[in-house]
Amino acid sequence: MAGKAIRTVISQSLNISKSPGSRILPVFQNKNHDGLHSQTTVRHYASQSAQRKVTMIPGDGIGPEISQAVKEIFAAAGAPVTWEDVDVTPVKGPDGLFHLPQKIFDSMAETKLGLKGPLATPIGKGHQSLNLALRKAFSLYANVRPCKSIEGYQTPYDNVDLVTIRENTEGEYSGIEHTIVDGVVQSIKLITENASRRVAEYAFQYARENKRDSVTAVHKANIMRMSDGLFLKCCRDIAAMNKDIKFKEAYLDTVCLNMVQDPKPFDVLVMPNLYGDILSDLCAGLIGGLGVTPSGNIGEDGVAIFESVHGTAPDIAGQDKANPTALLLSAVMMLRHMGLTEYGDRIESAVLSVIRDGEHLTADLGGKGTCSGFTKAICERVESSS
Ligand SMILES: NC(=O)c1ccc[n+]([C@@H]2O[C@H](COP(=O)([O-])OP(=O)(O)OC[C@H]3O[C@@H](n4cnc5c(N)ncnc54)[C@H](O)[C@@H]3O)[C@@H](O)[C@H]2O)c1
Repeated sequence: MAGKAIRTVISQSLNISKSPGSRILPVFQNKNHDGLHSQTTVRHYASQSAQRKVTMIPGDGIGPEISQAVKEIFAAAGAPVTWEDVDVTPVKGPDGLFHLPQKIFDSMAETKLGLKGPLATPIGKGHQSLNLALRKAFSLYANVRPCKSIEGYQTPYDNVDLVTIRENTEGEYSGIEHTIVDGVVQSIKLITENASRRVAEYAFQYARENKRDSVTAVHKANIMRMSDGLFLKCCRDIAAMNKDIKFKEAYLDTVCLNMVQDPKPFDVLVMPNLYGDILSDLCAGLIGGLGVTPSGNIGEDGVAIFESVHGTAPDIAGQDKANPTALLLSAVMMLRHMGLTEYGDRIESAVLSVIRDGEHLTADLGGKGTCSGFTKAICERVESSS
C-alpha cells in the first residue's frame, strides 16, 4: 500500500465520528483544546438518593438471567437506579452494512452509563464484534479490570489485588490490515500520543481515587522502539505530573513471568491494547476466571459501560445455572463510578459473604446452587445489612 493510501486508512481509523455513532458524539465529545482528556470521571450526582437511569444491555444466552439477578439485588439494596433495557442486535442500514440500533445511541445520550451482559458474535454474519462496536461508538478508551482474590474461593494464589488498565481504541487492534502481495499481509499497530496520554492519565487518576500506591507501564519498547516507545514516553510524562503515585516500567514478558510466580507485588498496570487483552485474562485466571471478574470501559465526561467479560454460556442458558457474580461486581464498579460507594460496598460485601459461605455456589464455582438461589441469598444479606 502506498504511503498516501496508508495515511488515508489511518486517518479514517482515527476518525470515529464517521462511525454510525457520530450522531451522539456532540454529547460526549471532549471540549479540551490540548488533545488531552478532561478528568471528569469522578461523578457528581445531586445526592445519594436521587434516582439515576442506567442503560441495561441484557445481552444473549445467560445475559437476561444474570441481568435480572443484578436488578433484583439493586432493588433489595434500595440503590437509586432505574434501568432502561436496550437490545443491541445490529440492524442492516441502507448501505447494506450492519449497525448498532439507534435506540442504544438515544439511551446512552440520556444516561451516559451502561451495564452490559455478554453478547454473541455470530461468525460470518457480516458484522463486527458488537463489543468492539460499542467501544468505538462511545469512545470508551480505557478498559479497567480489577482482579482481587475472593476469600473462601480457593485458587492457586491468595491475596491477589491488582488492576489492569488497557488502552481500548488503537494499538494492535486498530483494524488496519491489508495484503501487500499474495502471501504477504501487513497489520499496522497504531499508537498515538493523545490516546497514550489519556489512558496514562486515567491510570494515575484511578490509582489516586482508589488509594493505590503505584502504576506500572507494561511495554516492549526495547523491540518496538517507536510505537511502544511513544506509549512509554507518554506514561513517563504523565507520571512526572503525578508524583504522589509511584511509577514503574516493566517489559510485558517479564510481567507475565513474575505474575505467575507471585502476583502479590503488582498494583495498577497500564498498557497498550493487545497486551491488555491478554494480560487481563491471565490475571482473571489468577482469581478464579472470567465468571468472577468485573470490568469497566471508561470514556470521556463520565461516560462508561460496565460489563461481564465472560461469554453467553449457551450450554447453560435458560437453565438457572448461571453465575451472576461478574456482572454484579461490574455493577458495583458502576455504583462507585457514580459516586454511590455506600451501595456498592454493601452489595459487594453481600456477594463476597455468600461466596465465602459456600452454600449457594453455582456449578462454575464448584457448587450445586442455582442463579436464583444465589441471587436470593445475596438479596437477603443486602437487606439485613441496611
Ligand atoms: N464479552 C462478551 O460479550 C463475550 C466474551 C466472550 C465470548 N462471547 C460470546 O459468547 C459465546 C460463547 O462463547 P464461549 O463458549 O467461548 O465462552 P463462554 O464464556 O460463553 O463459556 C465458556 C464456559 O464458561 C461457562 N460460563 C461462562 N460464563 C459463565 C457464568 N456467568 N456462569 C456460569 N458458567 C459460565 C460456560 O457455561 C462455558 O462452559 C460466543 O458467541 C462468543 O462470541 C461474548
